[in-house]
Amino acid sequence: MKKSIIVTGGAGFIGSHVVRLLVNKYPDTRIVNVDALTYAGNLENLSDVDSADNYAFRKVDIRDAAAVDALFAEIQPEGVIHLAAESHVDRSITDPLAFIMTNIVGTVNMLNGARKAWDGDYEGKRFYHVSTDEVYGSLGETGLFTEETSYDPRSPYSASKASSDHLVRAYFHTYGMPVVISNCSNNYGPNHFPEKLIPLVINNIKHGKPLPIYGDGKYTRDWLWVIDHAEAIDVIFQTGVAGETYNIGGNNEMKNIDLVEQLCDVMDELLGNELGASRKLITFVKDRPGHDRRYAIDSSKLQRELGWEPKVYPKEGLKMTAEWYLNNEKWLENVTSGAYANYYEKQYA
Ligand code: NAD
Ligand code: TYD
Repeated sequence: MKKSIIVTGGAGFIGSHVVRLLVNKYPDTRIVNVDALTYAGNLENLSDVDSADNYAFRKVDIRDAAAVDALFAEIQPEGVIHLAAESHVDRSITDPLAFIMTNIVGTVNMLNGARKAWDGDYEGKRFYHVSTDEVYGSLGETGLFTEETSYDPRSPYSASKASSDHLVRAYFHTYGMPVVISNCSNNYGPNHFPEKLIPLVINNIKHGKPLPIYGDGKYTRDWLWVIDHAEAIDVIFQTGVAGETYNIGGNNEMKNIDLVEQLCDVMDELLGNELGASRKLITFVKDRPGHDRRYAIDSSKLQRELGWEPKVYPKEGLKMTAEWYLNNEKWLENVTSGAYANYYEKQYA
């Protein structure tokens, strides 16, 4: 192999799509998936690429600095694409410290690992930190987040991601490490863990369970097809300018209630139900504390400077997502058995 790239969080939702894309696209590059396999990590997500010659897996918890240092010493990577994180806002409200440890301390461990391994020789090196639009806070009825929008995180999750973004930039300014950051909107698609809205709704419709909508349901998110995100990550990793930040979005704002109603109709069609049957399951429930009203992204910098744009829109993407879950019942059963049932009971009690 000509070079090695570490992808952290490669067994998770977005990371698995990134690993698949890189393994297939760059056969001469060793792609090392580094993941602690928490409840959100699942090596089944990569069963179609895990026997490729250029794929390797290392089970490492990024909270463990010594293990991270040993990883860098062994792999000697040219690049890092850092996705490993605790990623669910509701869990961050119940257990903020877990988010501080993985998202902040874990990111610093990764930065330190890279710094020691590269030892000031940054030629051909790159540390790419994958972040979220949630660091910018909440928008009113109008406006978009740009790369210049001030940070205003409002949940323990977004505060931990914001903190990690600041640290990554500090390593650029202080040590000259060639970093790049992207802040992306809400992703959807195959392999999404069913604690998040879209797969949770699909799973509940399958089981005839209520579809919990927080508050008035008029909270707005910008939805991006996960493979479009993976392609953006590839473009930014290859061609982004060191020290720069790129916003990634789907140009696809939807209110939660409209999204869920559209998904209900897609499910009715696929399941052969009478149209409207699934909408009857919609149930308004207690709001999420500190719930951000609206996120919307201006990704024109990425489109203009690096030539990326989203290809899949929800009309098509929601159907492909629903079909994937219906065709992968075993995957869904595996991830919703055991601990998921306990989580669900507590969260929606
Ligand atoms: P995910 O929860 O599906 O996956 C996270 C992965 O990280 C899992 O495989 C998990 O095992 C691993 N992980 C967690 N803690 C770890 C630790 N201590 N050590 C090593 N591995 C650990 O998350 P996702 O939705 O795929 O998000 C990936 C990244 O993208 C995150 O950094 C997230 O903040 C960011 N992001 C997500 C979205 C989204 O809509 N899901 C949007 C923008 C940005
Ligand atoms: P989620 O998928 O958790 O992503 P995020 O909070 O990171 O945007 O939630 C998407 C939106 O859906 C958010 O406004 C919260 C809302 N939501 C519900 O209304 N009900 C639910 O059961 C969940 C999980 C989310």
